[in-house]
Amino acid sequence: MSTPTRRFPEDFTWGSATASYQIEGAVAEGGRGPSIWDTFSHTPGKVLGGDTGDVADDHYHRWAEDIGHIKDLGLKAYRFSIAWPRVQPGGRGEFNAEGIAFYSTLVDALLAAGIEPVVTLYHWDLPQELEDEGGWTNRQTAYLFAEYARRMAQELGDRISVWTTLNEPWCAAYLGYASGVHAPGRTDGAAALAAAHHLNLAHGLAGAAVREVLGADTKVSVTLNLHVTHPVDPDSAADRAAVAKIDDVGNEVFLGPMLEGAYPQSLLDNTSHVTDWSFVHDGDLALIRIPLSILGVNYYSSSRARFYDGTGERQQADGHGDGAGSPWVGCEDVEFLPQPGPYTAMGWNIDPDAFRDLLVRIGRRFPDTPLMVTENGAAFDDEVAPDGAVHDENRIDYLRRHFTAALDALEQGIDLRGYFVWSLLDNFEWSFGYERRFGIIRVDYDTQLRTPKDSALWYREVVRTGTIG
Ligand code: NOJ
Repeated sequence: MSTPTRRFPEDFTWGSATASYQIEGAVAEGGRGPSIWDTFSHTPGKVLGGDTGDVADDHYHRWAEDIGHIKDLGLKAYRFSIAWPRVQPGGRGEFNAEGIAFYSTLVDALLAAGIEPVVTLYHWDLPQELEDEGGWTNRQTAYLFAEYARRMAQELGDRISVWTTLNEPWCAAYLGYASGVHAPGRTDGAAALAAAHHLNLAHGLAGAAVREVLGADTKVSVTLNLHVTHPVDPDSAADRAAVAKIDDVGNEVFLGPMLEGAYPQSLLDNTSHVTDWSFVHDGDLALIRIPLSILGVNYYSSSRARFYDGTGERQQADGHGDGAGSPWVGCEDVEFLPQPGPYTAMGWNIDPDAFRDLLVRIGRRFPDTPLMVTENGAAFDDEVAPDGAVHDENRIDYLRRHFTAALDALEQGIDLRGYFVWSLLDNFEWSFGYERRFGIIRVDYDTQLRTPKDSALWYREVVRTGTIG
């Protein structure tokens, strides 16, 4: 008896994703203002090798070629982000017509190529002028973000398939303001929690603004990096409590207000020595909980944590880098142990089972909210063969295992609508600069030559057939 071929649904949205600061370059062109990542990457010691996004993939000039690659791969959708400082250089006041025209042209070209534009309004490049006034620790930033979102809705209108308010607000808040490995590089736990709340508020206000312009049925989404943390000893109540704390600070801080209208009491209690949460004003929670058309999930790897009793050196193998501070605000009695391999070039473990379990768990918890994998992929130390090809079997294997996990979740009845591979192109991997390559298309940074890797060609077949080869 032969087993039937396992297949993704006909209308599954296959795509690939990028982000403005990671690919565009042209940071001082077309009227763009500086962002916190320009400042941060130009600060010595912040980014590996002193790399910056000044040129990156030069996508600002090569977007037409890049769209050609997306089309050649047969992808149905492309997820990209708008650089707020390109369309509104100071983050308030005047908009920049040239910046808006860039995205408007890009969107038209995508549609002409039969590719659905999935937009992210915030992928970490905050206008520097707003950071000078406190950035995400300043409540005002949330209101200004909503005005920027409203304008983009007016400009791009119904040409956009999905409006994603924020990408990984956890990283923006905790890596930016608590551990300091991301821009703006602050190391203040209380500031990180205030930032998390103002990002939540920004999400709610921006989503509402977009719908006010384009109608209530406009697809509004948010992308979260949901952490999967295993207790070191599942039989230990202390280890399970440690994981619950991490879940609060890592996941519930966004899922709670955005989908359930409240911060968990345990989160407020566990962080009360850090902040009194007085930045949450009456009425905020109602503004944050807007109907979500889709919940975007980014997943790469899992972690392992346990209760830390204060003896010995506390281990922090959480995969988020060695910042001056810990991103896990209020979790001083938790430590992260290294995960068993195999690993990607980021040092992150490969755990597709955790991915499947996450999709199933989140899908069952929010059965009325369809899910979309908005990022999944892997960095490996690619080698270029003499003929210029990149035989990245390890990336294919990573993707195959994670696609299979997604198919498992679908077969368990989870409403998963699409999957975006991170990333379309090798690009600026934040504090790792150009040292880590996530692309399914190789970029030669000397020549800007793009070469689809074997993984891209393999992905094209998955998309074409709806089956995993
Ligand atoms: C998630 C972020 O959204 C993206 O910008 C980053 O490059 C990938 N993770 C890989 O670290």
